[in-house]
Amino acid sequence: MIKQLAIAATALSLSGGGALAAGSVGEITDYAFPFEGPFGSYDTQQLQRGLQVYTEVCAACHGLRYVAFRNLSDEGGPMLPEDQMRAYAEFYEVYDAELDDFRPAKPTDHFPESALENAPDLSMMAKARAGFHGPYGTGLSQLFNGMGGAEYIASLLTKYNGSEKEEAGTVLYGNDAWGGYFAMAQPLWGDDVEYADGTEATIEQQAVDVAAFLMWTAEPKLNARKEAGFTAVAFLIVLSVLLYLTNKRLWAPIKRKEKSQPAE
Ligand code: HEC
Repeated sequence: MIKQLAIAATALSLSGGGALAAGSVGEITDYAFPFEGPFGSYDTQQLQRGLQVYTEVCAACHGLRYVAFRNLSDEGGPMLPEDQMRAYAEFYEVYDAELDDFRPAKPTDHFPESALENAPDLSMMAKARAGFHGPYGTGLSQLFNGMGGAEYIASLLTKYNGSEKEEAGTVLYGNDAWGGYFAMAQPLWGDDVEYADGTEATIEQQAVDVAAFLMWTAEPKLNARKEAGFTAVAFLIVLSVLLYLTNKRLWAPIKRKEKSQPAE
């Protein structure tokens, strides 16, 4: 029994993290996002482009029900000017129970829920999915690569392989990032939107932009969180220096006495 266990354990460790990491998730490209790393922060322009892709493509099926329109003007987000944000909100119609009718959305209203029943809400998706799984092998993969939620979304949008199959009356689409077939037809084909800032709207560019935008919807306070972290670290460094000096000063008289005593 022990011998069998030992053999199994050796086999597992020999096959390494790679085999496990393959799992059900397919190939994930490690895109470099500006918000990664300890100094990273959201790129406002990119978030605005991502918002545009979401609005013109994804919103046909997917909702963003945890995001309020006014958040689009928040510091550290897409930072739409107030008037643009108001105008954007008015594009959407929301049901008002008091009026018992639909009316144009106000800044305090939230984005609608998914229009398509089986399309999941995307507000938290970048945190709900992981592109990099760990800790396997050395256990350091996630420390260096992060969770990879945004990489997962961007990869999902770019890795359709063109194959289709029908299962129980629904068409499923082959996707290498998904690692099989799933129900979302390829949404991006290139030039699906026309970017105001002149960026070329390739499939990959749009995928990365909308993934960054969805990272912001899932973690809108990332910039503020990192700033607070730095303040805390700076404070701790100053505190350590002060404590060190205090310690030296407190013990100084005793150390001096020790030195002046004759050796025994
Ligand atoms: C025509 C409708 C439609 C459009 C447009 C669409 N999706 Fe989807 N999406 C779906 C459906 C349906 C699913 C559920 C697929 C499944 O679970 O089999 C899905 C699933 C997803 C998932 C979840 C995958 C997972 O891991 O569960 C993500 C992320 C996603 N879509 C992102 C997007 C983005 C970003 C866009 C815009 C670029 C977009 N979708 C456009 C219908 C759509």
